[in-house]
Parts: sequence; structure tokens; C-alpha cells
Amino acid sequence: MSEVNRIWRLRKRPVGDITDDVLSFEEESIPEPSDGEFLFRLNYLSLDPTNRIWMSEMDQYMPPVDLDAPMRGVVCGTVVKSRHPNYNEGQIVSGLGVWADYQLGTPETVNPMGDTGPVSVVDAFSTFAVVGPTAYFGLLDFGEPKEGETVVVSAAAGAVGSIVGQIAKIRGCRAVGLAGTNEKCTWIKDELGFDAAINYQTEDVPAALAAACPDGIDVYFDNVGGAILDACLKLMNFKGRIPTCGLISQYNATEPVPGPYNYGMIVMQRLRVEGFIVLDFAERYPEAIAALGQWMAEGKIKVRTEIVDGLENALRTVKKLFTGANMGKLMIHVKNI
Ligand SMILES: NC(=O)c1ccc[n+]([C@@H]2O[C@H](COP(=O)([O-])OP(=O)(O)OC[C@H]3O[C@@H](n4cnc5c(N)ncnc54)[C@H](OP(=O)(O)O)[C@@H]3O)[C@@H](O)[C@H]2O)c1
Repeated sequence: MSEVNRIWRLRKRPVGDITDDVLSFEEESIPEPSDGEFLFRLNYLSLDPTNRIWMSEMDQYMPPVDLDAPMRGVVCGTVVKSRHPNYNEGQIVSGLGVWADYQLGTPETVNPMGDTGPVSVVDAFSTFAVVGPTAYFGLLDFGEPKEGETVVVSAAAGAVGSIVGQIAKIRGCRAVGLAGTNEKCTWIKDELGFDAAINYQTEDVPAALAAACPDGIDVYFDNVGGAILDACLKLMNFKGRIPTCGLISQYNATEPVPGPYNYGMIVMQRLRVEGFIVLDFAERYPEAIAALGQWMAEGKIKVRTEIVDGLENALRTVKKLFTGANMGKLMIHVKNI
């Protein structure tokens, strides 16, 4: 075991885009587990838009990371020392941890990955830890898509969005995705089976959406908020549903963000707009993992993982989520399993 622990700490709350001075990368000693704890070594670190939320003091669903504290993250690692009866050396675990080579875990924060069946550990971590269940519960519980309906999703070539569109297809819906490059649009149409893709950076979004959704929109799975939400609201059908998953277009905002211009459509079309947080579905994770695992094994859901090597690259890499430079699930690889 190397003698030092490399660790990212939050030093400054970001204002606007994430900048190089918000986190520091330092070397510290490796912590020792107490009774009931175990020490694990990081294999993969998930990078998520919520990292930006946790860095800030904006209204959020769990406490922000304290200044000078280790940066919080979703992690996959290998137990190297255990003082907990249910955790053994060599066991692969995943859960909520920090951006550090070595860290302490307890059953409250980190759990064994278990047998991932035909799905590789990397795909299981990238898909089952957060984004797959988010897409699954968000679309099925809140979107309630029915065969023949039109489902629109934003950030459609991202980790959550790419899975939402594929589940919509499995449910017999028309799937329409918005993404920020032609390459992303081609991928979701040609490889993932979306019926239509709109490059929101280059196309007239209201016109392109109207053309792609000739029967209107029944479900808009919102990952971004802002102008795309507004354009979708305008096309929503009677009793349409908007699962509000995230608002990435405004996480870096420095000024108050105006509400949607087409807000009145919620009344006129009797829409249901409902926010959700995937953590609330912890008890039902096995259901999502079983369904997603089966669809992946059957080739009905394809997942794409963008893996960058080196914990030292975590800060520069997390910025990709906000410039659209990632395609699929963004992760850092630290140490081979
Ligand atoms: N509610 C929950 O429990 C939960 C759980 C996980 C994730 N989320 C939310 O789900 C959303 C997607 O997360 P993810 O992990 O799957 O990330 P992701 O989609 O893999 O990556 C983020 C993508 O957002 C797009 N984007 C960035 N800035 C944008 C802007 N200003 N306008 C429109 N699109 C923009 C970019 O793609 P383009 O090139 O297409 O712009 C970027 O690739 C986020 O809002 C996140 O906070 C919510």
C-alpha cells in the first residue's frame, strides 16, 4: 500500500463555472478504520452534475460539502482493511464517498457491489449506482409513458438521458432527444434507436421540436430546464407529464433565473410537473437494477462510458459536464479492480 493518500478538498465555493481554485489536490496520511469501519481503495470515481451543486450553497437535497472538507463523490473501490464483520479485504464496494485514493466506509454510506452477473463491474457501477435508476424511476414512475406516446428528453446523449430514451423505446413510445452536437445526435438516433434528434445548439428548437413531435409531447423528461423546458411546455399534450430530473442549464448561474415563459401551459393542459431525487428510491434499487441489467444483456439498452485516467484529472474532467464535452457516463479511473 502506498504511504500517502491523494485527496481533493473543497477550498472555495464556485461562482459561475467551476474554476481550478475551488478544489485543492493534496497528499495526506491514510486513515485507519475504527471498529465498525473499513478502509477501501478507490477504483472508479463517478463525475456528476451534482458535484457542482454540492460545491455550492444553492438550495439542495443534502447538505453542501463544507469548505476545506474532502470533495464528496459517488465511488467504487476495493476493501483493503476491515474492522466490520460484513466487509472483507478484496470486496468491491460502491456508494457515497470522497475524491481520495483511500477512504473509510461504513454500511450507511458504502455497500458491497455483489454479483453483477453478465454486466461488467465498470458498467454496473456506471449504470446502476445513479444514472440508470434515475432514468428508470424518473421516466416510469413520474413520466408514466404509454405505448404510442411521445417522450422528449434533454441532455439526451448524457448518462441519464441516453437511458431514458432507450426505456421509452422499450415501452413502445416515440423517443425524441435534444443534444448539443451533431455527433451526439447521430449516436442517439443511429445507435440507440431514438426516432429523432435535435441539435439544440444549431437548430431552431421550437420549430425542430414541432417537426419531431407531430402529435405533441406526452412526457418531457427534463434534465436541463431553461429555454428547452420552455419550448417543450408549449407543445405539451393534455394531461402531459414532466419529470423534473435536473436543471443543468442553470447550475452555474450567477443571477436569478427567470421562470419558464410558457408556465401557463401547466394549467391549460393540466400537466403534472414533478421533481424527484433518485436517493428516495434506495429501497427499490434492486427492481431498477434487475430491469436495466436484463435490458442490457438483451442488447435493448446500450450504455456508453467515458473514462478518464487519474484522480489528479478529476477537477479538469468534471468541467466537461457543463461544456457538453462528455458523451455518456463520465468517470475517473484510479486503480484497476
Ligand atoms: N434527480 C436526480 O436524482 C438526478 C440524478 C442524476 C442526475 N440528475 C440530473 O440529470 C441531469 C443529467 O445528468 P447526467 O449525470 O446524465 O449528466 P450528463 O447528461 O451525462 O452530462 C451533462 C450534459 O448536460 C448537457 N448540458 C450542459 N449544459 C447544458 C445547458 N446549458 N443546456 C443544455 N444542456 C446542457 C451537456 O450535453 P449537451 O452537449 O447535450 O449540451 C452535458 O453533456 C443533470 O441535470 C443532473 O443534475 C438528477
